[in-house]
Amino acid sequence: MKKRLFTPGPTPVPEDILLEMAKPIIHHRTSEFRKITEEVQGNLKYLFQTKSPVLILASSGTGAMEAAVSNILSSGEKALVVKGGKFGERFAEICSSYGARVIPLDVEWGKAVKPELVEKILTQEKDIKAVFITLCETSTGVLTDIQAIGRIVAKFSDTLLVIDAISSLGAVSCQTDAWNLDVVISGSQKALMLPPGLSFLAISEKAWRRIEKSQLPRYYFDLKKYHKSSEKFDFPFTPAVSLIVGLRKSLSLIREEGIENIIKRHEILAAATRTAVKALGLELLAEKPADSLTAVKVPEGIDGAELTKRLKEKYGVNFAGGQEKLKGKIFRIAHLGYFDKLDIISAISALEMALSELGYKFELGSGIKAAEEVLLKGI
Ligand SMILES: Cc1ncc(COP(=O)(O)O)c(C=O)c1O
Repeated sequence: MKKRLFTPGPTPVPEDILLEMAKPIIHHRTSEFRKITEEVQGNLKYLFQTKSPVLILASSGTGAMEAAVSNILSSGEKALVVKGGKFGERFAEICSSYGARVIPLDVEWGKAVKPELVEKILTQEKDIKAVFITLCETSTGVLTDIQAIGRIVAKFSDTLLVIDAISSLGAVSCQTDAWNLDVVISGSQKALMLPPGLSFLAISEKAWRRIEKSQLPRYYFDLKKYHKSSEKFDFPFTPAVSLIVGLRKSLSLIREEGIENIIKRHEILAAATRTAVKALGLELLAEKPADSLTAVKVPEGIDGAELTKRLKEKYGVNFAGGQEKLKGKIFRIAHLGYFDKLDIISAISALEMALSELGYKFELGSGIKAAEEVLLKGI
């Protein structure tokens, strides 16, 4: 059976990238590898839309989240954390682990934070040193208006804005410099179309000034070390060589397609998916859905775990289920990274067949028809 991966990380990896990574490994302290690093660093700036350095770590995305916290805060400092899902909660956990004082901004799962609430808290609570926000909250599929929040945080000279763009960079618009984002974090296994294992941090000048002063313990994740080495297109420790070779290919594919076109492609695929599931009589979870993935409520009378199991075992289609309090209540169809129109058709077709077998009542083919109409017309 052909397997199709629709999970929001890891995501499918194009064959061209797999082939690059299959080449014999090279040593990292060589001019050959430094040339690759130089090209990769330039293209990462393009992807993050920044003039600032973008650092590369050998870790999953959480490593870069931890690096952000441990490099910009000092013990006891206040951090405002937007908690609207599992990954916002993770930021809060990391901040607490390092002894920061977390000021939570709890948002109902499935809803988007209101930017004016961020402003209200920043004004009321003095001395908040950083605001931590997830651009696309992968557990709910919600998109945050970080452009509006960037305008707000920029008014506070001693507050940094840290964005978890792990499941969104390269799928939705994220303009690091233009939107005043101080730290933008991403990971390899999402829209970058690579296997897991690399994480990235774009860091503004305002954030570098803070890093110079901050006093939390760190060693492997000391960003000053990575910054210093990156100026010579080098790394402080052994980098994930094969992944970086794959990253060069991935970024060249991204440059070839162009960020605006990539964002448009995600917009169309997401619109087709959303329209299709609604045509099946299903409901979206996210009030304001991101174009990276579509979170869908499991309809009444259907067992969510049985649905995803059947999709995987009978059709080779891997959707993600819900996490924590949403377990069994939603399923998530990812369309970030290496996805095209016919991927959406196969996802919707498999969903229709599995739902039909489980006894859900709807008109067979109505989801595919709705998706095709969006895909033909564009948006
Ligand atoms: C928004 C978001 N933040 C953080 C993470 C954690 O990244 P990782 O699993 O690579 O550590 C993920 C991964 O799914 C994510 O989607």
